[in-house]
Amino acid sequence: MFRQAFLIFRYYLDLVIDCIFAFFWEGTKQKIPDLDPRHKILTESAVSLAAKIRNKQLKSEDLVRTCIERIKTVNPMLNAVVDERYENALNDARAVDEIIARGVSEDYFKDKPFLGVPFTSKESHGVAGLLNTLGLRARQHTKAPEDAECVRLLRAAGAIPVAVTNVPEVNKWQESRNMVFGQTNNPHHTGRTPGGSSGGEAALMAAVATPIALCSDIGGSTRMPAFFCGLYGLIPTAGHTSFKGSTLRDGKAPTMASISFVSRHLEDLAPLTAVVAADKAKQLTLDKKVNIQDIKFFYTEQSQDIRLSPICGELREAMSKVVKKLSSAASSTDRAPKPYYHSGLDYMFSLWRHGMTKEAEVFSRVLTNNTGTAKAWVEIPKKLLGLSEYTLAAILKLVDDQWMPRTNPKWAEKLTDDLKQDLINTLGDSGVLLFPSAPAPAPYHYSLLLRPYNFAYWGICNALHLPVAQVPLGLSSAGLPLGIQVVAAPRQEGLCLAAAAWLRQLGGCVPPCRLE
Ligand SMILES: *[C@@H]1O[C@H](CO)[C@@H](O)[C@H](O)[C@H]1NC(C)=O
Repeated sequence: MFRQAFLIFRYYLDLVIDCIFAFFWEGTKQKIPDLDPRHKILTESAVSLAAKIRNKQLKSEDLVRTCIERIKTVNPMLNAVVDERYENALNDARAVDEIIARGVSEDYFKDKPFLGVPFTSKESHGVAGLLNTLGLRARQHTKAPEDAECVRLLRAAGAIPVAVTNVPEVNKWQESRNMVFGQTNNPHHTGRTPGGSSGGEAALMAAVATPIALCSDIGGSTRMPAFFCGLYGLIPTAGHTSFKGSTLRDGKAPTMASISFVSRHLEDLAPLTAVVAADKAKQLTLDKKVNIQDIKFFYTEQSQDIRLSPICGELREAMSKVVKKLSSAASSTDRAPKPYYHSGLDYMFSLWRHGMTKEAEVFSRVLTNNTGTAKAWVEIPKKLLGLSEYTLAAILKLVDDQWMPRTNPKWAEKLTDDLKQDLINTLGDSGVLLFPSAPAPAPYHYSLLLRPYNFAYWGICNALHLPVAQVPLGLSSAGLPLGIQVVAAPRQEGLCLAAAAWLRQLGGCVPPCRLE
């Protein structure tokens, strides 16, 4: 009863919040420039671009130059790029073209599946010689001395870094805004956030300005920007990618985060993930051939976690469309999607928050570039006087970490294990769970400060260390991307990808501008 009354109140509160923020942001909306016909090659997948370069149908130099031109066209509206190596990237591309023109054996290409294809990376992954600030004033001129492991692996696979993009401080907020570079805008509506923390990557990818977007995800940082910008995203099972050189980590401690990608092209996600999983790719099922008829579908309509906003009508409708479509495609009622619920889903935020206590990285220390510890009681008065080096979002996280009671670890550990075991038993090696992405499509800038827990549909999947695909499902009536998550048991990435491919018929990825 209480819960129902609260949810109704919350529903109206959300409406009021949106009206107020619309007043500020609707007038600022700018349209992303349509794709210049000379840049049409950028609509192709990274896999297809690499094949054309190998087959001498396309010069890497031309592709890199086109990519740079498109970035320069859209970046003034997006504010996504924070540092670049355009000249060096063109040199790298010319070197690739020379090698290919000279003629090399097929073997040469085997370890270089993305030879000559440009990529961008969130700036929390070190790219040698480029800014690596993590959005911190304490590091505002600090450059990466060397490549992060994920960047090194992509380079080794032949891809060419072009630019690094904006993130929230230490990647820990749902919007990509900081006190060094400001805020990144959503290409579908520049008065709204592209999400965080890989918001710069998703904004460029959705605006058709980068063929490969290197991200990471500890609480939705890949899937949230993918959802808000209408892209595919895939996080592989935790523990299969290296964080050496990412968010200043040494990569030794275990983490619930995964190096991951967003893309307009679903088919790029498996081969790109294989590159960054390196030796561990074999343990995953990225290439598994799956017949959609053999997948058992489950779905969760809505969490009962009262911290989150209720799911909006259009997203509930999107989920029910998927379920209906699957039911009518099922060979028997036995194969129709079944509802799934577990009491652990009533505490998604708390379980993620507990998961974060096991991470090696200490937010309050990284904020100071590891020279001290940022304190909520110092930063709040400073913020009020306009003297703090941190965003309000970072200070709210300090408040949560330093003032709020700890989540009972015994309770959280047990509930996490119960939920995980129940999901593994339910899904096995042939089941997927269709799961909401968020309560609403891309929110107005700053409005998530009033809804700080709304990322928990993503966060709970990290706490469970499960692989997930974020799948776009076309646009809402207001022209904002819709989508859902597809969750599977550990190392069942192949099921997530097969389900995502089938779901393409329900709208898929829609660009924010004309492509021809
Ligand atoms: C931040 O720390 C790094 C070491 O991780 C150091 O190289 C860099 O100079 C520091 N930046 C500033 C501005 O102190």
